[in-house]
Amino acid sequence: MKVEVEKDSLLNVEAESLVISIFENIEDSKHLIDEIDKKLDGTIKERIEIGDFKGKIGEISIIYTHNKIPTKRILLIGLGKKEELDYEKIRRINGIVIKKIRNSEVKKYKIWLMGSEKPDLKVEQIAQAIIEGAILGNYKFYRHKTEKLEEIKLIEEITVVYNDLIDEIKNGVRTGQIIAEATNFTKDLTNEPANIATPTYIAEQTKLMADELGIKCTIFGEKEIEEMKMGSFLSVAKGSNEPCKLVVLDYNPKQNLETIVLIGKGITFDTGGISIKPAMGMWEMKQDMAGAAAVIGTLKAIAQLKIPLHIVGITPLTENTPGGKDPNLPGDIVKSRKGKTIEILHTDAEGRLILIDALDYANEFKPKIVLDIATLTGACAVALGIYASGLFTTDDDLAEKLIKAGEETQERLWRLPLWEDHEKIMESKIADVRNINPSRKDGAGASNAAGFLKHFIGDYRWAHIDIAGTDLVSKGKDYTPLGASGVGVRLFVQFIKNWSKKSN
Ligand code: BES
Ligand code: ZN
Ligand code: ZN
Repeated sequence: MKVEVEKDSLLNVEAESLVISIFENIEDSKHLIDEIDKKLDGTIKERIEIGDFKGKIGEISIIYTHNKIPTKRILLIGLGKKEELDYEKIRRINGIVIKKIRNSEVKKYKIWLMGSEKPDLKVEQIAQAIIEGAILGNYKFYRHKTEKLEEIKLIEEITVVYNDLIDEIKNGVRTGQIIAEATNFTKDLTNEPANIATPTYIAEQTKLMADELGIKCTIFGEKEIEEMKMGSFLSVAKGSNEPCKLVVLDYNPKQNLETIVLIGKGITFDTGGISIKPAMGMWEMKQDMAGAAAVIGTLKAIAQLKIPLHIVGITPLTENTPGGKDPNLPGDIVKSRKGKTIEILHTDAEGRLILIDALDYANEFKPKIVLDIATLTGACAVALGIYASGLFTTDDDLAEKLIKAGEETQERLWRLPLWEDHEKIMESKIADVRNINPSRKDGAGASNAAGFLKHFIGDYRWAHIDIAGTDLVSKGKDYTPLGASGVGVRLFVQFIKNWSKKSN
């Protein structure tokens, strides 16, 4: 989408549609209303007085200007109560606005910067939130629809207009566009079904993106993965005829900067393997690579934002199917890259098997921090629903910083226990560890999975994020349309931005 910033006075703006935002308490937007009403014979006041527009959050009313000003129509949008307005509400309002406008024949609109009346909101971040909400809300996964493209209504251009602080607005708009487009890139990868988004396809798409942005991208195939001794990852991959890949993205290498490694689970389809899943709902398992997609999208944004840190993305990619040369059989024992042996009691607990070899490989980059993100356990989705991703770490300070980034982006995190008990319970009688705790009655499946991962971490600060409940939007709203949510991109970018400010 094309995004512009324009300096102008309210009544001089030339547009097909100009969006103007009004608070619920009319006094809070008096300056705007008075200015427009002078030219439009009190139209807005009239609407408010007869009760046709109340300024409630997300409420919309259209005014035709009959050539009294250069704008053809004004779209009034309610901001709700001034005390309650925040960046998340701005994102939501803009998701609503863009969907409303795109359902008419209009392909572009201008928007007067909203919410600057509120002193605790910064103009730069307001602009970022406007553009994030709009670009995320405008998203549709339509590439497999054979209907004509013109019938798929999408907004093609937005201009943010204001009479002041244009540099701040430009910065915010640019940040918002980068982050939202990276998130939509992640959604595209995640929404593609498994017959298209194979490990090879994801690796190729990632390489194209990385080459364009000058990120170093290495794609390892099965042979190299074998040489790297990733026996645990390979044990899953051997159950599929689709070749596995390990993609490593390296942004800002060799610059003596602090290193953060991001690891994403990339199961391009999870049938469960020999411990096969039930048929109903299994299609959702095309999204079992949402973690990998989030890591790839994060690197895209980080490179464009030119964050002064060394960021590495590692994504092990494979199907989990019960075919191939040699699928895992329940009870099999395999050796991980770290050297620890694993008793595989359940082939559907495969995410952890591919993550641990990446967690060990991360040591090569001597990272300060390693974060992994994965659609790891149904148990996490049961515990937290769609409202928060699970956070597991023994590092309180890291937890606090991640939770803060989650609040800021509203990709919320909720910390769940990770105690020694959860590590201990994953020890095996005949190998070093086992990939599930077979006693269902003990519960805490999400914490046990985290306990399993912890057996394999290196000398770095680490947190694990379980997005099994948050990777998919089943009821589209505001700026989160149906399908893949792209969760993780905004969260990671925010965390990394905050971190880079701290260490500078
Ligand atoms: N990919 C699934 C987890 C999942 C479930 C993600 C639902 C999204 C929605 C994972 O590989 C899995 O199958 N986990 C098992 C683990 C169990 C066998 C210990 C699960 O959660 O049932
Ligand atoms: Zn599984
Ligand atoms: Zn899985």
